[in-house]
Amino acid sequence: MLKVDGLAAGYGAVEVLHGVSLIVDEKQIVTVIGANGAGKSTLINTISRLIAVRAGSMTFGEHDLARLSAPDVVDLGIVQVPEGRQLFGPLTVRENLELGFQRQRRRQPHSFRERLDFVHELFPRLHERANQRTVTLSGGEQQMVAIGRALMADPQLLLLDEPSLGLAPLVIERIFEVLQTLRASGLTMLLVEQRAEAALELADYAYVLSVGRVVAEGPARRLRADDAVRNAYLGHAPAHP
Ligand SMILES: Nc1ncnc2c1ncn2[C@@H]1O[C@H](COP(=O)(O)OP(=O)(O)OP(=O)(O)O)[C@@H](O)[C@H]1O
Ligand SMILES: [Mg+2]
Repeated sequence: MLKVDGLAAGYGAVEVLHGVSLIVDEKQIVTVIGANGAGKSTLINTISRLIAVRAGSMTFGEHDLARLSAPDVVDLGIVQVPEGRQLFGPLTVRENLELGFQRQRRRQPHSFRERLDFVHELFPRLHERANQRTVTLSGGEQQMVAIGRALMADPQLLLLDEPSLGLAPLVIERIFEVLQTLRASGLTMLLVEQRAEAALELADYAYVLSVGRVVAEGPARRLRADDAVRNAYLGHAPAHP
């Protein structure tokens, strides 16, 4: 579905990704785990066409992503849940979801009401809090809004940038349960995470990113059980404060 090959990207004189290759197959959760500064957000933002491609290729089906703009990528069905959620705090939960629906400029296969019902079913809390200003919600609820907003755009591939950021373990568990439900519904996801254990438990396939390079990959279950990988890359991953 998504194929990234030899991708290089960076900021100004600094190259951050040095030839990253990965594949996301349909209906799978693929995770990219890596410590603070490994280049996870840079990868997600390059796929979203927010950062220029310096070398390599990215294709989604038969589409060459490097030739498209960021809004085109959303229209193709690649939708991002950004790091730190990036919600419109003064707006209500419902208004944030409406903005998510409007991101999709293609003819909508689903109506606004259908998408909203889908999101409310997944996150009943967002229904209860529909008219509340987003800034007044808990961190976990805000993450639900961020995921809900992306789902409103009817994604084929959901890119999740550290949805666990700043959340308590029980809340992370709840969010990851929802991702599992979404996979069962047939959605494909690319999840980048610093929380390696949680991500490996959830994902089908995993890549370990270290200083802009993929240093290990394999079925998530195998990586989780691999002592060498754990000791080298996962043992000292700092938890978010
Ligand atoms: N806008 C920017 N301008 C210059 N350098 C940047 C910029 N954003 C990130 N970097 C640098 O690129 C490298 C990778 O950053 P990136 O945000 O992709 O890492 P990350 O894996 O997402 O980290 P984290 O887990 O903290 O979110 C870091 O060295 C960072 O300082
Ligand atoms: Mg990041």
